Amino acid sequence: MTKRILIIGGGSGIGRALASELSIRGDDVLIGARDTARTAADFPDLDVVHADLGDEASIAALAEAGSFDAVVSLAAAHANGPVGALDRQAVEGAFGAKVVGSILLAKHLAPVMRPGGVFVLFSGVAAWKPAPGLAVMATTNGAVSFLVEALAVELAPLRAVAVSPGIIDSGAWDGMGDDAKRQMFEKTAGANPVGRVGSPADVVSAVLLAIDNTFVTGTTLHVDGGGRLG
Ligand SMILES: NC(=O)c1ccc[n+]([C@@H]2O[C@H](COP(=O)([O-])OP(=O)(O)OC[C@H]3O[C@@H](n4cnc5c(N)ncnc54)[C@H](OP(=O)(O)O)[C@@H]3O)[C@@H](O)[C@H]2O)c1
Repeated sequence: MTKRILIIGGGSGIGRALASELSIRGDDVLIGARDTARTAADFPDLDVVHADLGDEASIAALAEAGSFDAVVSLAAAHANGPVGALDRQAVEGAFGAKVVGSILLAKHLAPVMRPGGVFVLFSGVAAWKPAPGLAVMATTNGAVSFLVEALAVELAPLRAVAVSPGIIDSGAWDGMGDDAKRQMFEKTAGANPVGRVGSPADVVSAVLLAIDNTFVTGTTLHVDGGGRLG
């Protein structure tokens, strides 16, 4: 049956691949993006609505966009670097996009979720594999995984599921430059039990499971090639 699905952060990377896949299978996709003009130009066939998880008014307004079977948030902001050099505003921005924003999505959109509805929130491997310079990323991702447990209990029978990607060639790493990216991917692939980095399609597959399997709630789906275990 056709589902109505809101994807926040659907304008790039994994979210973009998810939007394409859901459209192909016939779901009714609404993309939430900060830059609505750019995203609408990229997705002329899809509806786009303004969504900034750092802004509660913007989140509250999403409740006026109708009802949803699934709300997926991929929003992330980064505050990487040694703990001693962290900037408070950047740290708050990272928590705002991923943690506070997710909580506010639940606050404002739970009332408009359809029966059987699900919140799919993005965590990440850094929470399970700490590394110097990634303290904020580890903490925000870990918080998302605990948040879905709390939401699954409090909002039941609505569901909440976290998806935790490992290193994915989503475009998000392209800013490193070709050589540095290739070296990082080779090192990651060598350390991963499955011997490769991930693709957006690997992660999309897990999001589809979270959306479609109504017996899955309050848990984290690790899509990391086993990378958290090394
Ligand atoms: N790629 C990886 O290796 C990897 C690894 C572990 C976890 N993850 C997680 O997977 C998710 C998707 O990652 P990706 O690789 O697809 O990266 P991406 O392309 O950078 O996607 C992040 C998206 O979030 C949006 N966004 C950022 N802040 C937002 C805000 N305040 N409100 C609304 N949207 C906001 C961005 O839109 P703008 O264009 O407006 O900035 C962008 O579309 C993220 O949560 C990331 O932490 C990725």
